[in-house]
Amino acid sequence: MLKYTMISIVNIDDDKKWQSILRFSFSGYSIIPSYSGKSGINIVRNRNPDVVLLNKSINDMQYNEVLRKLKEIPGAPPVIVIGEYEKPQDVVASIKNGAVDYVAKPFELERLKDSILEAVRMNSTPGTVVDVYPSELEIMIGESKGIKAFKRNLLRFAGSDAAVLINGETGTGKDLAAQIIHRVSDRKNGPYLVLNAGGIPVTLLETQLYGTVKGSYTGAVNSAGYFEMADKGTLFIDEIGEVPVTAQAKLLRILEENEIYRIGGRESIPVDVRVISATNKNVPEAIRQGSFRQDLFFRINTLYLHIPPLRERIGDIPLLADHFLSVSGKKAVITSSALSELQNHDWPGNIRELRNVLLRAEVLSEGGKISKNDVVFDPI
Ligand SMILES: Nc1ncnc2c1ncn2[C@@H]1O[C@H](COP(=O)(O)OP(=O)(O)O)[C@@H](O)[C@H]1O
Ligand SMILES: [Mg+2]
Repeated sequence: MLKYTMISIVNIDDDKKWQSILRFSFSGYSIIPSYSGKSGINIVRNRNPDVVLLNKSINDMQYNEVLRKLKEIPGAPPVIVIGEYEKPQDVVASIKNGAVDYVAKPFELERLKDSILEAVRMNSTPGTVVDVYPSELEIMIGESKGIKAFKRNLLRFAGSDAAVLINGETGTGKDLAAQIIHRVSDRKNGPYLVLNAGGIPVTLLETQLYGTVKGSYTGAVNSAGYFEMADKGTLFIDEIGEVPVTAQAKLLRILEENEIYRIGGRESIPVDVRVISATNKNVPEAIRQGSFRQDLFFRINTLYLHIPPLRERIGDIPLLADHFLSVSGKKAVITSSALSELQNHDWPGNIRELRNVLLRAEVLSEGGKISKNDVVFDPI
């Protein structure tokens, strides 16, 4: 089982510069700074972190004494000592007093991250694989119950290689979710391709997916399709509900056999592609109506993710508003009357609509304040 956690670290170090370097380089970790041995021991006792980093040259106490005191805490976390030089006697003394590792400056941050991960793994329940909570998820804003459950599943599914179907209304973040899965998965260094299946004729859809062989029809050239190009990576098929029934049988066969034939080609080409699909349709309903094959549905639906619409998580609107206003670079503040206007809307276009309404409000606003009158909804 793969378990992602936000690893919490107490960093005992009186060097302010080093504290801030660590904070900025370790996004995805929760860092609790402590500026003295004495306060560090207290913080560890109260906060129960996953790992402790201890600077050997901390001023108020001998580091060996800090190590011994930390060791006495029930359920004591692993401690990594950070020293200035790699002196064998320091390494030996640290380990003897209970440290799990000694890392000498200067070091690559990766070296420290590896050591932290190793320490957490050794300290966790046997059989669980701990990995760092990927910082990519920070771009998926939301703390409401529905979106938290969604993010949890997103991480679990990213750790597997099975097909994923993402369902949600337009603008809820399906594209974003698919990207996150890819970037967090073992295929992250492979290609990520997106094909929108909506509104393209069957022949074009198939030449795009499978590629063509020269001479197969007038003007056809040798070209690879999305399946070949996405080899060892991820193919995101957006609006899979729009794939015409006539093209569904072939798509199913390829997903089952992991090999394709280019259009007009006779040679089978093996492909290693993870497929993520998305739809805003109710697929079971489409199956009942005969516009979607049940067997294809079962194949793409191994793992299912539903993103709740924004109107079911209006509690996230203040966070999202902060996010979109801050990435736009200007610093307009939003008044509470404008905020309640936003929270009373039903958001048919979801997060995409919210972003547009906010950017418009920012343009309309005066004096750096977004008021109720600046909130203008799209006439849908
Ligand atoms: N939870 C979220 N936090 C921040 N931005 C989001 C979130 N969900 C969606 N977005 C943004 O909203 C826009 C619409 O999302 P998108 O993934 O294209 O939706 P969909 O594919 O479901 O129509 C994108 O710009 C996306 O980055
Ligand atoms: Mg989309």
